[in-house]
Amino acid sequence: MQRLALNWRRKGIRIGFVPTMGYLHAGHMSLVRLARRAVGSRGKVILSIYVNPTQFGPSEDFSLYPRDLKRDLRLCRESGVDVVFTPADNSMYPGKERGAFSTYVVEEGLSQTMEGRSRPTHFRGVTTVVAKLFNVVLPEVAVFGAKDWQQAAIIRRMTGDLNFPVKIVVAPTLRERDGLAMSSRNKYLKGDLRRQALVLSQAIKHVTGRIAGARNGLPAAVLRREVGGLVRREPRAKLDYVEFFEPDTLTPLRRVAHGGHMALAVFVGSTRLIDNARL
Ligand code: PAJ
Repeated sequence: MQRLALNWRRKGIRIGFVPTMGYLHAGHMSLVRLARRAVGSRGKVILSIYVNPTQFGPSEDFSLYPRDLKRDLRLCRESGVDVVFTPADNSMYPGKERGAFSTYVVEEGLSQTMEGRSRPTHFRGVTTVVAKLFNVVLPEVAVFGAKDWQQAAIIRRMTGDLNFPVKIVVAPTLRERDGLAMSSRNKYLKGDLRRQALVLSQAIKHVTGRIAGARNGLPAAVLRREVGGLVRREPRAKLDYVEFFEPDTLTPLRRVAHGGHMALAVFVGSTRLIDNARL
């Protein structure tokens, strides 16, 4: 992959990159369209599919994470992806089991809250694998989804801090018609859990409405309580966190007004879902 990318870059061919863990959906494919727009018809769009073990905690769904390479490849072909890069564990982390892999990329500021607090080693895995993928794929532009707002902020910070010559583009969150943010993990939502999962987008709608009706904003503590109440109404939903923060720095807000950002994580059954939006 690196040799191919290097050859393209030497010839002045632009590379747009969409890193994914596969089980592709329309949200992923909207990132492909933005990558294509960024590099043009003569550029190359590369999509990676790699379920990265280092970003899963010991009790998380790494081995169960949904996989369907055949379907993913069809979607990529239909969307005009030029290369699908599907590295194996033993080429990404050779010798990890016997201690022969020991270099990680750690972002120490933005990863302290929200997902980072609930999943302590998660972002270390994300920044490490994305840095490795940038070095292999050599993109000029890489596209990430606003669905994982904190992840996108951390990748942008890492790219600046470590001087990667990569432009980071963030794509809007694609949703199902009823509001549920598209996610590979939605596959886990059987029966009534699919309906209960709507509580995430409903909480965002609720807070958006509350902010629209309050000239000087509202205390985060009040909104947090209201979101807690909404989530408790769903029998199998359990709030992990809800945060209100400044969108670029992720600094928590005590008082939430128009332009603030909201993110939440909710267990629906045993599936952990996240969502976020600008208020
Ligand atoms: P994955 O969850 O497969 O997501 C790949 C990319 O698609 C991410 O940038 C994510 O934000 C974006 N995405 C997911 N759902 C979306 C939606 N509904 N609308 C718009 N974009 C959406 O995020 C990862 O993989 C991994 O952490 C990765 C960055 C690949 C590193 O392993």
